[in-house]
Amino acid sequence: MAFKTLFTFVSLATALAGTNAALTRRVACPDGKNTATNAACCQLFAVRDDLQENLFHGGQCTAEAHESLRLTFHDAIAISPALEAQGQFGGGGADGSIAIFPEIETNFHPNIGLDEIVELQKPFVQRHNLSVADFIQFAGAIGVSNCPGAPQLAAFVGRKDATQPAPDGLVPEPFHTPDQIFDRLADASQGEFDPILTVWLLTAHTVAAANDVDPTVPGSPFDSTPGLWDTQFFVETQLRGTMFPGTGGNQGEVESAIKGELRLQSDHTIARDSRTACEWQSFVNNQTKAQQMFQFVFHDLSILGQDINQLVDCSEVVPVPPPPQGVTHFPAGLTIADVEQACAETPFPSLPTDPGPATSVAPVPLP
Ligand code: HEM
Ligand SMILES: *[C@@H]1O[C@H](CO)[C@@H](O)[C@H](O)[C@H]1NC(C)=O
Ligand SMILES: *[C@@H]1O[C@H](CO)[C@@H](O)[C@H](O)[C@H]1NC(C)=O
Repeated sequence: MAFKTLFTFVSLATALAGTNAALTRRVACPDGKNTATNAACCQLFAVRDDLQENLFHGGQCTAEAHESLRLTFHDAIAISPALEAQGQFGGGGADGSIAIFPEIETNFHPNIGLDEIVELQKPFVQRHNLSVADFIQFAGAIGVSNCPGAPQLAAFVGRKDATQPAPDGLVPEPFHTPDQIFDRLADASQGEFDPILTVWLLTAHTVAAANDVDPTVPGSPFDSTPGLWDTQFFVETQLRGTMFPGTGGNQGEVESAIKGELRLQSDHTIARDSRTACEWQSFVNNQTKAQQMFQFVFHDLSILGQDINQLVDCSEVVPVPPPPQGVTHFPAGLTIADVEQACAETPFPSLPTDPGPATSVAPVPLP
């Protein structure tokens, strides 16, 4: 009920903002090409164009886009009021610390592999005039805008950069229990990211692959459509696991249902936990939900540790993503009989099965 009210309010506010934008005088940017609602947004057009051209291969939802999104989470989630309450530094949240102190933070175990995207983003940070904290969140939003079916994510400028690295131990690991993950996300967000919103956040794994969980098969995707922002991730994680894409016995990995696909233990257990199973299932075949809920939680994730009153909303600079593609389906060879039903309240939605021989999915090419 509370959420219904919230979303009605948000839609109304968005509608009003649209009207206001038409009435508000826009500023002409110094680049002579663009206008913006706030002069502070002007410099973002050049950052966006540079990213699209030189990091995201002319606007593609490729590994660089996926890794830029993962980086937003690993920077932002490293904040802990619980540690602060014990008199220790708890990290600064979305403060750029992961890229300002990369030799420290990218060596933390859950941040494995992020040294690469930090290194790739470095020259872009150097040739533009954003705080590192703003840059990381902006690059994630632009990367996601290249994924068909994605929401248009929020972009803010004005974040303060970190002056010290975040402590280790604040980023969730795929071998953590649901309790550990729910507690950590609730701590970081002062209670906002509850188990339901944790599911919303995990929508990000619709455009994702693992390089380091099983290093023998880098680029193993979490669903059969890692280049699309769709709900296949929620379907495929609910199927009975029967195989590993590479070797068995990796920490944080369980069997998936499709050749070449990698399933994280944490996604598997949260999909089956009694607190979250119905929420997980509710994303199946609900594209609007996969867009709106992630748009909402990314906004809040991307400003953790920052004062929103000091930030300028420049979301208008983020491209409107291409429309969704495809139809939610069971991968070829699999049906409702392969679903491990975990939601006790509602049956699993009926979906068509893709024709042809059993689906197998190719690795996402590395940067
Ligand atoms: C909350 C618990 C979460 C856990 C335990 C988790 C864990 C992981 C792991 C182990 C990988 C694979 C890393 C590798 O081996 O290369 C991964 C990839 C990824 N994660 Fe998460 N994640 C979580 C939440 C999130 C959230 C909230 C976001 C975004 C807001 C996110 C975005 C991504 C993306 C985009 C990738 C793919 C990166 C690539 O394709 O290179 N994750 N995650
Ligand atoms: C750089 O960013 C600061 C802070 O937003 C701004 O005041 C300044 O005008 C910017 N400089 C250039 C050259 O864009
Ligand atoms: C999709 O999700 C939205 C948001 O929660 C909900 O209002 C809507 O009823 C859902 N649509 C379907 C077909 O279940």
